[in-house]
Amino acid sequence: MIFDTHAHYDDEQFDIDREELLGKMETEGIGMIVNAGSTIESWDRIKKLTEEYSFMYGSVGVHPDEVGTLNEQSFQRMGELLDCEKIVAVGEIGLDYYWDKEGHDLQRQWFIRQLELAREKNMPVIIHSREAAADTMDIMKQYAGGMKAVIHCYSYSPEMAREYVKMGYYIGVGGVVTFKNARRLKDTVKEIPLESIVLETDCPYLAPEPFRGKRNSSLNLPYIAKEIAEIKEISCEKVVQQTEINARKLYNLEKGD
Ligand code: NI
Repeated sequence: MIFDTHAHYDDEQFDIDREELLGKMETEGIGMIVNAGSTIESWDRIKKLTEEYSFMYGSVGVHPDEVGTLNEQSFQRMGELLDCEKIVAVGEIGLDYYWDKEGHDLQRQWFIRQLELAREKNMPVIIHSREAAADTMDIMKQYAGGMKAVIHCYSYSPEMAREYVKMGYYIGVGGVVTFKNARRLKDTVKEIPLESIVLETDCPYLAPEPFRGKRNSSLNLPYIAKEIAEIKEISCEKVVQQTEINARKLYNLEKGD
């Protein structure tokens, strides 16, 4: 079964057909989905989705572009939501110096506080990092040692991926790996062990080829698994099977639990 470790079905782009689309998942082999939180407003929608669909789990956190909306009250609410049964991670949290919507100090401050909250709750973290390679690595080393984490939509060098793998973290691979110009990500996938890779869509964003630019959904994950299989010269089944095991370990959703 395919495990989508990062999706945003709370996004308004799914308002027209969310029910119909999610109704197809299990018959199409998509067995588990973790819907990642990004804004404070997304949290309640995510909780509701996890209650409506047995295969849906969620995470709560605030994306670096949105940390200006956080305050002590909302941070406390986040802590309460983390105690819900189907909320399995803190995320997505991190640093984004590409869009640069919030000051770097504020981004770092809330990134660290959300990491500390995850440690307190003994939960894994979903990391968003764009054009902030060195600062993200520094903060992870200083504040997330021994914790479970996925570096979602990984976009840095193979060398840095190996360093994250050594720290015990997972590398999230999505639609970008199918793009012709994604040489660096393809090299990363080739160099790191399959045991450290998890599949993700980040839908509605980042649809794989041949749907690049269109609305993405978990139904496109087979294209990503196929590309990883080709790069690593193994079967698609092996990719699906191992990445499911990895994702279950990441989110503490091992079979029999
Ligand atoms: Ni995302």
